[in-house]
Amino acid sequence: MRKIVIAIDGPAASGKSTTAKLVARRLGYLHIDTGAMYRAITLRVLEERIALDDVKSIRSVAERSKVRLERIDHANRVLLDGRDVTKEIRSREVTRAVSMISSYQPVRDVLVREQRRIAKDGGVVLEGRDIGTVVLPMADLKIYMVASADERATRRKKELEQSGTIVDRNVLEQEILERDRKDTTRAASPLQKAADAIELDTSSLTIDQQVEFVIAKANKVIEKST
Ligand code: DC
Repeated sequence: MRKIVIAIDGPAASGKSTTAKLVARRLGYLHIDTGAMYRAITLRVLEERIALDDVKSIRSVAERSKVRLERIDHANRVLLDGRDVTKEIRSREVTRAVSMISSYQPVRDVLVREQRRIAKDGGVVLEGRDIGTVVLPMADLKIYMVASADERATRRKKELEQSGTIVDRNVLEQEILERDRKDTTRAASPLQKAADAIELDTSSLTIDQQVEFVIAKANKVIEKST
């Protein structure tokens, strides 16, 4: 059976990560969370106290940092030069700064090159903002996931609560809308639906339903191409 490439794009907290992870598990594919790669570079920039507008130094961070996504003990881990930063990259400081860092073309060039390398043999589910439009325009299946801002804020709140952080839901909704604005209006690879992507609104779907939807589409593509 041919191992296909699945691209899942969409705004923050639309359900991409959970869906991509479970779809990859069902198909026995690799799951690549490209947002985690931008987050890891952002963490290093913050740790080195580089000004967020110092593009030259930020580019150098992207070029000399090794970001790896690995499966260790059945869990996806993010390694930054060998250090496990899976948890740290989800902090609110990183979340606030990552839109800025990911808007720089030199940073994108480095990470997109790595994402294409990982995807070249197929059997991968990549999730992000520009996978279907820029990174892999020839992907076999493109899904564009959306959900209402209200639902996305509720999901983020629950997620944060699980790691012991209590944040007001309205604050989270504002932050999500602000991130949408930055991700869709930036000059470099803005978030947009690829013309040939299938839109999936997850606002009133369960995780199981989201996963089944993508698996059904994937199986069709796999059948057709084998
Ligand atoms: O999916 P996420 O929230 O972890 O992504 C973090 C940020 O990285 C997001 O604000 C936009 C950026 N990003 C990007 O520009 N391109 C991608 N392919 C993935 C994420």
